[in-house]
Amino acid sequence: MSENKFFVIAVDGGAASGKSTTSRALAERLNLLHVDTGTHYRALTLLFLNLRGKQTGDNSIADFLGKIELETSLSGRAALLKINGRVPADGELRSPEVNAMVSHLAAMPKLRELLKSYQRSLPEIARQNGFAGLVMEGRDIGTVIFPNADLKFFLQADVKTRVKRRADEGLQDSIAKRDKIDSSRKTAPLACAEDAEIIDNSDLTPEEVVDRICAFIENGAGS
Ligand code: CDP
Repeated sequence: MSENKFFVIAVDGGAASGKSTTSRALAERLNLLHVDTGTHYRALTLLFLNLRGKQTGDNSIADFLGKIELETSLSGRAALLKINGRVPADGELRSPEVNAMVSHLAAMPKLRELLKSYQRSLPEIARQNGFAGLVMEGRDIGTVIFPNADLKFFLQADVKTRVKRRADEGLQDSIAKRDKIDSSRKTAPLACAEDAEIIDNSDLTPEEVVDRICAFIENGAGS
């Protein structure tokens, strides 16, 4: 990676594949703005669930999306999505109700369009705030959001390991079910970009994953 060049790293993978831990640590080591796009889909799902029931009149997804205002709030190296003036708490975003619904909303093309233009605006925020680059994690970052990203990583871990990770966090989540919906949707499915480096981290510690990525960068990848 050449000095002083602003760079974008895409980290994709299935549920509980280690994307957040890895991306957060990379952001710390390399002075990057960290964006977890899963929280964007979760925040829209939370709002949708909260409005459902209260809604009068037009219940269409277009009407729902038309009432949404997206902004960014910086917290350390993390870019947090502020939706209609509020950053939802992590516990709300990871509730069983949101876990059960998020992949269904994430399959909607109009909703993905809205988030795509928001997500593509974030490198500018990183630049304006003095970051050396941006690390964005999700399902379609290397394929759809930033197909020209400087570096792309696709994280994998076996299902047993991923289920254990969620259980250790005390969270109720159907990982395999979400992966199936995410991989089979028509618009921007969960997919490994052709030029992504695949890292299976079933038997690696988070530090080992980050070391491996940094070694990859030091050896000239993406330059
Ligand atoms: O943390 P975990 O890996 O379990 O999931 P997440 O990254 O928070 O993403 C939650 C859900 O949002 C996924 O299961 C997808 O349905 C959706 N998502 C997506 O469709 N595209 C992305 N770029 C990120 C998340």
